[in-house]
Amino acid sequence: MRAIVVTDQAAGTAGMELVERPEPPAAINDVIVQIHASGFVSTELEWPSTWVDRVGRDRTPSIPGHELAGVVTALGYGTTVLSVGQRVFGLADWHRDGTLAEYVAIEARNVAPLPGDVDFAVGASLPISGLTAWQGLFQHGRLTAGQSVLAHGAAGAVGTMVTQLAREAGAYVIGTGRAPDREKALDFGAEEFLDLENDTLESVGEVDLVFDVIGSDVQKRSASLIKAGGTLVSVVGPVEVRPADGLAVDFVVEADRAQLGEIVQRVRDGRLRTNIGTTTSLDDAVAALNSTERLKGKTIIRVRPSGPGT
Ligand SMILES: NC(=O)c1ccc[n+]([C@@H]2O[C@H](COP(=O)([O-])OP(=O)(O)OC[C@H]3O[C@@H](n4cnc5c(N)ncnc54)[C@H](OP(=O)(O)O)[C@@H]3O)[C@@H](O)[C@H]2O)c1
Repeated sequence: MRAIVVTDQAAGTAGMELVERPEPPAAINDVIVQIHASGFVSTELEWPSTWVDRVGRDRTPSIPGHELAGVVTALGYGTTVLSVGQRVFGLADWHRDGTLAEYVAIEARNVAPLPGDVDFAVGASLPISGLTAWQGLFQHGRLTAGQSVLAHGAAGAVGTMVTQLAREAGAYVIGTGRAPDREKALDFGAEEFLDLENDTLESVGEVDLVFDVIGSDVQKRSASLIKAGGTLVSVVGPVEVRPADGLAVDFVVEADRAQLGEIVQRVRDGRLRTNIGTTTSLDDAVAALNSTERLKGKTIIRVRPSGPGT
């Protein structure tokens, strides 16, 4: 099969190569998925799991990419619930070969059915950003109707999902970002926008939940904005400054079939819009991922050319 591999951590995306690799075998409880579309997060070549396995051994050359939408072509020993020919989407294991490839071996529990009316590119755009927003808001942040959310990076891949899901849950959302992000953040449902480079963060007042995708000084200053009993949720590593009278949680997103089902249902009925910025083919992916321009929104690699509605 054709796959993009990386072998040199220091080289970053410049070290990506499109090569021939053997198709992966299905392990216990796996499915093999023929990938139609894959999602890529720009920071993943910095993650240790791209380079080493769970006991710390070098696992290069490794195939990056952790979001997929495609069709099941084989079942591993003991695999239940899914069947060959089924459309699925999901979140691949951080420590295994990923989704910038024609096939992936993935534990069946990490994928969910992809309804026939949802495009593969849309399916591949949802797992990381959708699940991260869902888990940060509802599991870790315990968001309820009437609360307020400060959504940092509100025009980004995760931030647009955070904004939409929080609004749907009945929260008041203040989005942040850079000045050119204002219109997009408001378009995705933020009620207010704060330009982090020109406005004063502290002017937003107190909020119940801060959802941080930026870190550094922005995160440190956000801790003081948390109301008593509120939560600072970080997806960019451990929180250095904790709220005086609230919780701080940092987490890494996990696959969850039921949550994927909730998310895709919202896309189908129009409650959730995707934020796909760049779409490329597998052949052009290395060049696209090495673009000198900052890629905005989700980056999707269409691994198999698909017809309309597929
Ligand atoms: N722990 C987890 O499970 C998990 C899951 C998903 C994502 N993440 C992490 O979350 C981060 C965001 O991911 P993403 O996919 O949403 O990225 P993204 O699409 O690039 O979104 C980030 C947004 O924040 C903005 N931003 C970043 N730094 C800023 C600053 N200093 N001032 C103002 N705006 C700023 C970006 O604007 P510009 O594009 O102009 O910089 C962009 O709009 C990444 O570091 C990713 O690795 C973690």
